[in-house]
Amino acid sequence: MSKQQPFKSVRGMNDLIPPQSQQFEYLINTIKKLVSNYGYKPFYTPIIENTGLFSRSIGEATDVVEKEMFTFLDSRDSLTLRPEGTAGIARAVIQNGLTFGTHKIWTQGPMFRRERPQKGRYRQFNQVSVECFGVAEPQVDAEQIILLTDLWKELGISDYLKLEINTLATEQTRANYRQKLVSYLEKNIELLDDDSKRRLTTNPLRILDSKNLKMAELIQKAPKLLDCLDTESEQHFTKVLTVLDNLSIPYTINPTLVRGLDYYNHTVFEWTTDKLGSQGTVCAGGRYDGLTSHIGGKPCPAVGFAVGVERTLLLIESVDKFPNFSNNNLAYLVLLGEQAKIEGLKLAKKLRNSYPNKTITTNLQNISLKAQLKKADQEKAKYAIIIGDNEIANNLALVKKLSTGEQITVSFDKIDLS
Ligand code: HAM
Repeated sequence: MSKQQPFKSVRGMNDLIPPQSQQFEYLINTIKKLVSNYGYKPFYTPIIENTGLFSRSIGEATDVVEKEMFTFLDSRDSLTLRPEGTAGIARAVIQNGLTFGTHKIWTQGPMFRRERPQKGRYRQFNQVSVECFGVAEPQVDAEQIILLTDLWKELGISDYLKLEINTLATEQTRANYRQKLVSYLEKNIELLDDDSKRRLTTNPLRILDSKNLKMAELIQKAPKLLDCLDTESEQHFTKVLTVLDNLSIPYTINPTLVRGLDYYNHTVFEWTTDKLGSQGTVCAGGRYDGLTSHIGGKPCPAVGFAVGVERTLLLIESVDKFPNFSNNNLAYLVLLGEQAKIEGLKLAKKLRNSYPNKTITTNLQNISLKAQLKKADQEKAKYAIIIGDNEIANNLALVKKLSTGEQITVSFDKIDLS
């Protein structure tokens, strides 16, 4: 009989094991604390939605919808693994009658895009999305940027991130600008690559985002949306920048920043780093006032962003800013024999109740005292609590401080791990 080959995870979809899983939890917990400090509440939506929701929200002519979605037929319904969080959240806001009032919400979880995997780019990746519904005022856009500066500071990575910001104005102004841009590009059609020629009719603004160096000059000389702003758009953008200036938050206005998703208007922004090679955008977001009405709900102004969890983790790692996760709060129960295992399990349960912030772990393998102590050492335990037949007979345990070798014999109810 031939041997079964071990299964491997699906391309671009990774396991998360210690210590990376601990780093992941550290990041999520740090964000969770901060966003709750800013008044955002948790909000969870399903991982699968109807395909139409994404094509309508993100836009038919975007890379995500054109070629990156994991879509399948369930009976007669076309369903898709969510490629991002905002569309599902907007759908849930409408469905749960939340397009009235203000709702500050955040969520985290896996997203799925069929992209070519490389460092910082995966087919399953995690985002933390933070969204504010119901407030049209530009200062909210700025407050979310303030929140992010707090986050980078807390994580020790402020020095490695730059804020780029732009405005995509109102729908009308964007439509007028689109015509101007198209006529400029048509005049220079011989300079466009194939992808951009195709985009000329479907999504011309995305041409500005092209990484093709041969088109750099053409893009640089293209008319700028920033030069054709209507009063409302100009005022909105100025008010966002005024808050940033007042809080001394540095930024670069990038007139070619257009984002890869179609639902934005007014403010858009990205935080980028040069520490991660080509996948340097760690966080991105902006305002999307038209989304709820575009997908069939009542109009509701909204603004939000998503932190790319894997890229943020890679950045923290690359500049060596992770805290030490070694657990010097660990007590390790060394249990010798069948009876010791039973008494040990009882004692461990009691100790866990008394010390909920410490880790109490048991060794239930039939291995020698020496082998168990070696494992306790490897796990960097602070204390080893040794129980064998002798100790049970006297209702005592031998508590050894592993850093000094100091040891005392005490009754079970007198064990002090502080
Ligand atoms: P996005 O720019 O598509 O925006 O993604 C946000 C972040 O997710 C990116 O900046 C990046 O860090 C991370 N990311 C995206 N694709 C991948 C991938 N294949 N592998 C690893 N990380 C990735 C959105 O998704 C919007 N929903 C953001 C938003 C929220 N706008 C308003 N509210």
